[in-house]
Amino acid sequence: MRKILLLLFSFVMTVHAAEKSVWLDELNIKAMSSGWGATKANLSVGGNTINIAGEKYERGIGTHAVSEINVKLDGKAVKFTANVGLDNEVSSVGSVVFIVLGDDNELFNSGLMSNNVKAAPVDVSLTGIKLLRLLVSDNGDGMNYDHADWAMAKITYSGAKPTIVEPVRPEPYILTPKPGPKPRITGPKIFGARPGNPFLFTVTATGDRPMEFKVDGLPVGLKLDSETGRITGTVVDKGEFITTVIASNSKGKAKRKFKIVIGDTICLTPPMGWNSWNCWARAVDDQKIRDAAKSIKDSGLINHGWSYINIDDCWMRKLNLEKRDEVDYSSKDWYKSLVSDDAVLGGSARDEEGNLVPNNDFPDMVALTEYIHNLGLKAGIYIGPGPWTCQGYVASWKYEDQDAASFAEWGFDYLKYDWCGYSQVSGNQTLEELKKPYEVMRDALGKQPRDIVYSLCQYGWGDVYEWGEEMNGNCWRTTGDIVDTWSSLYSIGFSQDKQWKYAKPGCWNDPDMLIVGQVGWGPNLHPTRLTPDEQYTHISLWSLLSAPLLIGCDLTKLDDFTLSLLTNDEVLDVNQDPLGKQARRLYNDSDMQIWAKEMEDGSVAVGLFNLHGFKSQSITVNWSDLGIKGKYKVRDLWRQKDIGSFKKSFTADDVPVHGVKLISISK
Ligand code: GAL
Repeated sequence: MRKILLLLFSFVMTVHAAEKSVWLDELNIKAMSSGWGATKANLSVGGNTINIAGEKYERGIGTHAVSEINVKLDGKAVKFTANVGLDNEVSSVGSVVFIVLGDDNELFNSGLMSNNVKAAPVDVSLTGIKLLRLLVSDNGDGMNYDHADWAMAKITYSGAKPTIVEPVRPEPYILTPKPGPKPRITGPKIFGARPGNPFLFTVTATGDRPMEFKVDGLPVGLKLDSETGRITGTVVDKGEFITTVIASNSKGKAKRKFKIVIGDTICLTPPMGWNSWNCWARAVDDQKIRDAAKSIKDSGLINHGWSYINIDDCWMRKLNLEKRDEVDYSSKDWYKSLVSDDAVLGGSARDEEGNLVPNNDFPDMVALTEYIHNLGLKAGIYIGPGPWTCQGYVASWKYEDQDAASFAEWGFDYLKYDWCGYSQVSGNQTLEELKKPYEVMRDALGKQPRDIVYSLCQYGWGDVYEWGEEMNGNCWRTTGDIVDTWSSLYSIGFSQDKQWKYAKPGCWNDPDMLIVGQVGWGPNLHPTRLTPDEQYTHISLWSLLSAPLLIGCDLTKLDDFTLSLLTNDEVLDVNQDPLGKQARRLYNDSDMQIWAKEMEDGSVAVGLFNLHGFKSQSITVNWSDLGIKGKYKVRDLWRQKDIGSFKKSFTADDVPVHGVKLISISK
């Protein structure tokens, strides 16, 4: 008995003797992710002493939602302890949830934590656990002000010392089936042009080349190039023409109805193309625009309806704004006092007649648009109503008519008109003031013998969706600029419900451009920080929203996954549907949302979105919520596969974290 007791005693002593502890702040901070700023040791993310509801802590980790800290253990760790809460350093109210996972089982969940809430104690056993994950979720409502502290965070262990491992980046997986060899006609089913203006539309199809195109029933004045599918010419009178497009190759033939509407309204489906801003920003030049156009063609994107190549800011002459407050803006000569001496970008912004002179990175605008048009694509340009653009390049103030005429002469088909520098010359931001510059350019564009898509960019101010149509706007930004993070995507994309009813053919709400692929606001690019599932969510949601689809990445570096995201014709059909309705939100809680879009053929496109930060979820859409009854077919649009028939509801199992199931429901 005595022997046994002695053995037991020495065993307990050995276990105890072997127990050690390490503060989280002593481990590799650099591998701990933070949704904003960088995770800090023994300080809040803002660099102050950790302070939760007035209580100060000398140790711990200061981070920001959405954050993930992964700790590798050897199964012999004992426990994790900490005090968690939001840091006092912010003035506004944040909201987060602290979660501790042990090999993907939830060991601790703080529930919703807000500012000035006492720290929640964490004390969890780590017995047998190999991977400890410390997560801070943004509570599904965006990450603003979410300064989160793991105060006094400590791991007690008896085996190997815990180490931090980088969060695992989920591998991309491709759902879009590869296009088959037979012809399949893609792109919009309707196209609008104004009478008397040059007409340019390229019929597109996937399938083996060479391919021959035919269009039966083209209105007088239009002709088709049977090899390229390009329709050009001019139609003199207004009218609607239902044509039949036929595409044939050695493997077969495809036919589809295509409606041409000659009238006052253009842009009858959301514009699809590319814009230079989200990759090149100020590093844009003529060659990069040509490369993008060529890549749309070479990558095959052109065969799926991608058609605009748009230059954003920074193609004009840069101004020297040092003396901007001394200038008389009522004089037409205002810009002459702001000439910059920059060798490439400087020099007089206008010629002697007041015509815009592009900077030296854009030697010949006419040659550039010709290059783009010759590929079967269209060209877009950017300027603003103020004296200068957001980047300080000359803009159209006092030269609106002349600039619109230049854009038409140069051969542009799209204008993004960005408020920015207009604040220098505008009065109070009354509704009248907000509208004024857009009316001026509306009238200037109206005088041009060319169809130019008019894109209003003023970040949604004054509820622009209510009056964008009155400006003859074809699309209007509803938000500030997007960046390639979940938080940006989430807060912009999932807040687009209120303006749904203003979307219709010719009028589109614009939640900003796409952030997939190599992005970065130039010249240095990086792969989008969105996970593959977040990218599926992005493209699905923008398609449901009938949003303009402007790719923002370097098209010369397209990887297979990004290409697959942008070439799913069934998904793009949701965006390009001729009815032009925008999806509405049917269901919303902090973990999941369901959006539904009415389609022209009577079907409904439905997106089941999982907003949960670390758990896949089953999501159900009920027929009663869609206002339908009885048996309906459900099709998986990304996989382009029928799922089956369902009577009352459909449940998507295991929708991945921040991912989506995009389906079509039809009779
Ligand atoms: C912003 C605009 C961006 C981009 C940028 C260029 O105002 O929202 O999309 O165009 O200006 O400076």
